[in-house]
Amino acid sequence: MSEINLGLGNNDIVTRKEAESDFIAFWEKQAKNLSWFSTWKKPLDWNPPFAKWFVGGTINASYNTLDIHQNKANKPAILWEGENGESKILTYKDMWTQVQKFANVLKSLGVQKGDRITIYLPMIPELPISMLACARIGAIHTVIFSGFSAAAIKDRICDSKSKIVITADGGYRRGNIIKLKEVIDEATKDFDFVQNVIVIERTKNKIILSSKDMLWNELMNDISDTCIAEKLDSTHPLYILYTSGTTGKPKGVLHGTGGYLTHLYSTFKWAFDIKDSDIFFCTADIGWVTGHSYMVYGPLLHGATEVMYEGAPDFPDASRMWEIIQKYKVTIFYTTPTALRMFMKFGDELPNSFDLSTLRLLGSVGEPINPEVWKWYFKIIGKEKCPIIDTWWQTETGGMMISALPGLETIPLKPGSGTRSIPGLDISVVDEVGNDIPPNTKGYLVIKNPWPGMLLTLWGDDAKYRDVYWSKYKNCYYPGDYALRDIDGYFWLLGRADDVLKVSGHRIGTAELESCIVSHHNVAESAVCGIPDELKGEVIIAFVVLKQNVTKDTLILEKELLIKIRNDIGAIATPKQIYFVAKLPKTRSGKIMRRLLKSIANNETIGDISTLEDGAAVSEIQSVFEELQKSIQKKSD
Ligand code: WTA
Repeated sequence: MSEINLGLGNNDIVTRKEAESDFIAFWEKQAKNLSWFSTWKKPLDWNPPFAKWFVGGTINASYNTLDIHQNKANKPAILWEGENGESKILTYKDMWTQVQKFANVLKSLGVQKGDRITIYLPMIPELPISMLACARIGAIHTVIFSGFSAAAIKDRICDSKSKIVITADGGYRRGNIIKLKEVIDEATKDFDFVQNVIVIERTKNKIILSSKDMLWNELMNDISDTCIAEKLDSTHPLYILYTSGTTGKPKGVLHGTGGYLTHLYSTFKWAFDIKDSDIFFCTADIGWVTGHSYMVYGPLLHGATEVMYEGAPDFPDASRMWEIIQKYKVTIFYTTPTALRMFMKFGDELPNSFDLSTLRLLGSVGEPINPEVWKWYFKIIGKEKCPIIDTWWQTETGGMMISALPGLETIPLKPGSGTRSIPGLDISVVDEVGNDIPPNTKGYLVIKNPWPGMLLTLWGDDAKYRDVYWSKYKNCYYPGDYALRDIDGYFWLLGRADDVLKVSGHRIGTAELESCIVSHHNVAESAVCGIPDELKGEVIIAFVVLKQNVTKDTLILEKELLIKIRNDIGAIATPKQIYFVAKLPKTRSGKIMRRLLKSIANNETIGDISTLEDGAAVSEIQSVFEELQKSIQKKSD
């Protein structure tokens, strides 16, 4: 574990000491960096597992990201780069005006505090504008990644009972037009509770408008640009973001306002050491949590200038990101290991032919970063002068939980380690029964204290919230990740400990995918697992048992299943391989042995299966294993 020493920011030992002695007072102090309409009566109401931060305080997310920056109204907030080469600059004044106008549009359509609004948009400025307009009036936004299919959107809209859906005629992706409006028509056709669909004309492709549909431009044409921000309770829900878990149904992670904003304000400052002159560029799509927290709320809370890119990172070629960094003189670049692995594959010549000298800080998020990719990032992109922060967190945590913090303290970096936890958090690595384990031993990551960015609950399902995150260990949050701590106390994140897959950094639940496969009329059973992949981190392998007497050609079946997965979930859930098998390896209690499937798919030996969990029938498993190996062999021949 080599170390890289860079002088990072100022040492602020006091902050950590303060946080350790009284984490509630510590977060209370951080909350004072925000603008509150009225101060809280109680900093934390902890009724495990439900935390309410800054109870009695009133605040508004849109006010804190826009109104307070009107003293520098002409500073660019968003430098928008279209996939097709178009570009736009939106100043803090422009954002403020647009958000107020759109908030008035929502109000004119009868939207009230607490109503849900689904947003299904490509990476265009109207996406953050819509989110902040919801926040301004206390409506709860629920953004759905624009790669999801109609069936996946339908589930989410039905769960949130959204009154309004905001979409575009289309979105550009690798030069093609994705017809988003058509997807929304299909997704909402059975829902009378969706009162209106607002359509932004991005691509000007032909669309059919029904009586529910309204055009963004027409609505914005003649509407007041003044809308006073609502004074909302600190615990008022800001958004729902659906994410995959271990059960079939996506979970609606619900975030509040005052605590969430405090977490983001603090981590954005500490991790990115943000300065007024910085140009920040995060490559995440706003449809995922990284985009919510570190493209919309974090940077705008600080009045920062950021680049927002509409399209695919390798379109028209793999130099697009470097070209953008050069064009906008980006100083802070935050991306994913999957993107870096892809860039690395194209060699050093491309990034070396651009001027990347403005960069001063690099970040990584979403999956473990392999040390060799870390080193490439450090050397080729950062020219050995930019620290890399490897930030571990989740949709549920709201903001970063483990990361180096150049804006706070100087510590040596270790390629592949997230380093230490954010101050004010109590994070440990424990064994199966919850005891802290010795250094350098793999265990489960847990969080022992509530923290301000934590989810309020799962939308409409407190029981599931309790069960998924708080039942494995008493009064400890269980994120579902393996980790170890080295002798210096640094955390090394070692991937998911549960049935959640991470493909290109996107979360996909095995159960969600399996239930989609099983809903095909010829399929009896299915199990999916992830296997390591050089580029995507992990790829999906599906094992499928057909119903008896199915005689259909497996090539046709495979095609049908792939289409079904794309239609029901989206292209990101497409398996790399589908194996048709006679049986799945199961324990005596009927649990599918994923560990075994993984070994099979990885072409590994399974070792001593007599020790397999739950006393599985050894001889039966052995024969299933051999049968599976044969099917795989047959397929690769
Ligand atoms: C994984 C993304 C290793 C982890 C912000 C976590 C990481 C899941 C890292 C959450 C990292 C995220 N190193 N693994 N730096 N960051 N993960 O909800 O397994 O899309 O539980 O949030 O991503 O994924 P999510």
